[in-house]
Amino acid sequence: MKRLVVATTNAGKVREIVAVLDGLDGWSVEPLPSGLPLADETGSTFLANASRKAEFYSRTLGPDPWVVADDSGLVVDALDGRPGVLSSRYAPNDEARNGKLLGELRDIAASDRSARFVCALALARNGRVAWTTERSVEGTIAFQPVGTHGFGYDPVFLLPALGRTMAELPREAKNRISHRGRALETLRARLESGGG
Ligand code: IMP
Repeated sequence: MKRLVVATTNAGKVREIVAVLDGLDGWSVEPLPSGLPLADETGSTFLANASRKAEFYSRTLGPDPWVVADDSGLVVDALDGRPGVLSSRYAPNDEARNGKLLGELRDIAASDRSARFVCALALARNGRVAWTTERSVEGTIAFQPVGTHGFGYDPVFLLPALGRTMAELPREAKNRISHRGRALETLRARLESGGG
C-alpha cells in the first residue's frame, strides 16, 4: 500500500479531498500529523504555493509518503484579482472575509461581479514535486451570503447556471463542479494509473 498524506490543516479542504480520494485502490490516504511547522506561502501564484507546501511537507515527513498540497483562493475581476493568493489572509475568519468582500463590492453591479475559484494541487515525495495541476470554476459574487455547506467564500460565490451559491450545494455536488473537485479528479486518475 502506498501512502498519501493530505498536507493541509484547513478542515474544509481536508473533507473535500478525502471524499474524492477515499477508497483509492492501492493507496492509504492520511491526514497531516499534528504539530509540524507551517510551510511558507510566499509565492505569487497558486501553483508556486502548492509546490512549496508539497515540497516542504514531503521533506519534513521523510522519504516514504507521497504528499499532496492544495493552494487555492478566490479571484475577483472587479478587485483586479484580489484576494487571490492572499485569500486566507484577507481578513481573520470566514465571516469577516465575506463581509469585507461584500463591502468592497457594495457599489459594483451584478454584471461586473465576475469571479473564479482556483485550486492548484502539487504532488511531491522526498522534497521533490512530481506533478501539479490547476483548475478553476467561474461564478459571480452574490450580494449577501447564502447557504451553510462548504467553507470559506462558498456562501458568496454564486454559480449563475444553477442560480445557487456554492454553499447551497452538498459536498458531492460541489466536488462534481468545483475547482478542487476538478483538480482532484485529475489527481485521482494519476494515482489510479499507478503514478505517484
Ligand atoms: P490557502 O490555500 O491555505 O492559502 O487558503 C485558501 C483560502 O481560499 C481559504 O482559506 C478560503 O478562504 C479560500 N478558499 C479556497 N478554496 C475554497 C473553496 O472551495 N470554497 C471557499 N473558499 C475557498
